[in-house]
Amino acid sequence: MTEIINKIAFTPERLEKANEMIARYPEGKQKSAIMPIMHLAQEQFAWMSQSVMDYVAELLEIQPIEVYEVATFYTMFHLEPVGKHVIEYCRTGPCVLMGGEEVYDHLQQKLGIKKGQTTSDGLFTLKEVECLAACGWGPCFQIREQYYLHLNNQKVDEIIDELSK
Ligand code: FES
Repeated sequence: MTEIINKIAFTPERLEKANEMIARYPEGKQKSAIMPIMHLAQEQFAWMSQSVMDYVAELLEIQPIEVYEVATFYTMFHLEPVGKHVIEYCRTGPCVLMGGEEVYDHLQQKLGIKKGQTTSDGLFTLKEVECLAACGWGPCFQIREQYYLHLNNQKVDEIIDELSK
């Protein structure tokens, strides 16, 4: 079991979960738990600051650079503070062909922000991502585990208004 005293630390429940994840792999191969541990970390700390990534590295007994590499490769890890709802908007070909760009313009206008920005009320962050594997249901975006499909301008208004309540 890993015990770590640090300013950044998992809650006891999350630490137990992290140690369970690490224990699934043979001694010396604990790095294999990196993705689920990073998800666990983002769930608690909202974004992957350097301190959070260093904490993950400490837990896994690996070099911090190994965590930075993963965090900067996958768009689902947030490298800056984010709003309550992170909208991951698909900008890949099939969604574009189904009107995704027009809907994306509308979404940006509705929120008053551009890619990578957060609304002043801290409610929404807008990120652009590659294919969400929902090409037949595009245009689409994702907020956490929830997919929003067959988007059009009216649907975008309804979703944003609902989430703003
Ligand atoms: Fe948008 Fe695949 S292209 S989900």
